Amino acid sequence: DKGEFKHYMLKEIYEQPDAVARTLEMALDNDEPTKLRDDFLQRHETQLKGIKHVQVIACGTSYHSGLVAKYWFESLIRVPCSVEVASEFRYRNPVVIDNSLVICISQSGETADTLSALRDIQKQSPIGLVSLALCNVPTSSLVRETDIFLPTLAGPEIGVASTKAFTTQLAALMLLLLKVGVTQQRMTAENLSTLLGQLQQLPGQLHASLHLDAPIKIMSEHFQYKKSCLFLGRGLQFPIALEGALKLKEISYIHAEGYAAGELKHGPLALVDKDMPIVVLAPKDSMFDKLKANMQEVHARHGELFVFASESSQMVAADRLHVVYVPDVCETLAPIVYSVPVQLLSYHVAVMRGTDVDQPRNLAKSVTVE
Ligand code: M6R
Repeated sequence: DKGEFKHYMLKEIYEQPDAVARTLEMALDNDEPTKLRDDFLQRHETQLKGIKHVQVIACGTSYHSGLVAKYWFESLIRVPCSVEVASEFRYRNPVVIDNSLVICISQSGETADTLSALRDIQKQSPIGLVSLALCNVPTSSLVRETDIFLPTLAGPEIGVASTKAFTTQLAALMLLLLKVGVTQQRMTAENLSTLLGQLQQLPGQLHASLHLDAPIKIMSEHFQYKKSCLFLGRGLQFPIALEGALKLKEISYIHAEGYAAGELKHGPLALVDKDMPIVVLAPKDSMFDKLKANMQEVHARHGELFVFASESSQMVAADRLHVVYVPDVCETLAPIVYSVPVQLLSYHVAVMRGTDVDQPRNLAKSVTVE
């Protein structure tokens, strides 16, 4: 039931504060805000203690949450992490490092390529292999075939475009990272407590980001007749740029590409002209000054910039520079909050273009064929 919403996708975008809060409750306890709940993944502590490497396998949007996890695992707890789309991984006879935690991320748990990649790894049986399903469907094949099940508590996702599954995957991946960090003593009590405090604020920040719906709807009018669009981000926002581009092409049928902003001058800058909208994910973080320089490169070539910036940043709208202010959020969790404006943008552009938002042409919710 879509209730008051015109589409499942919009309903599911709006469900994100609750879905993320539910997912976080698996590990967070309001009465003990400085530690993880004792029962969170308790049965798997020995397995998690032994892992030395993380290998993520996924497709589409789920792959993008894996990319964020890579930045998190390596920078926050120094655990090496590789991420690959399942449809490549399974056909290239890859080396699976000993003592790997193989994380299969999938909303449905029935994606053919992800399942096959998992089965191939299991056949190789590397030493110390631990497999984990990060999945929204407890009864799925993926959950049955893995050692550990970490659920995303998003509730059923009906829209083909993945929204709340993505943000709950990110929340759950952060919980998993904290569990590995604590179990392997790769994290100080102080860092843990800071991150837990930031996670407590996340549902409220997601809720606040939904207020961007109105300004983003206005912004979306600029995209209605466009043929092609770039999404730029750096650091933790690079995967969100990829996700924004995927969302836009999937439901509005406008060609879109996500790029690491530092790669602009290695090719895509040649595309930029006055007809090219460029969406930039620009929270005020450690990469902000570098990103500003990238924006200037685009602006100087008459590109039209659509920037999602921090409320506290000094960004001001100007000619060919549109700004929507996103609530301030810590750098680590910003990719979760910045997912919301890119979802809303693609939603409104698609509605304006009259496409079938919940059931885009040629696509299926669950890709059970290769
Ligand atoms: O069920 P899964 O998470 O394994 O699905 C993977 C992709 O098919 C999926 O994320 C797809 O890219 C979405 N429709 C994107 O919105």
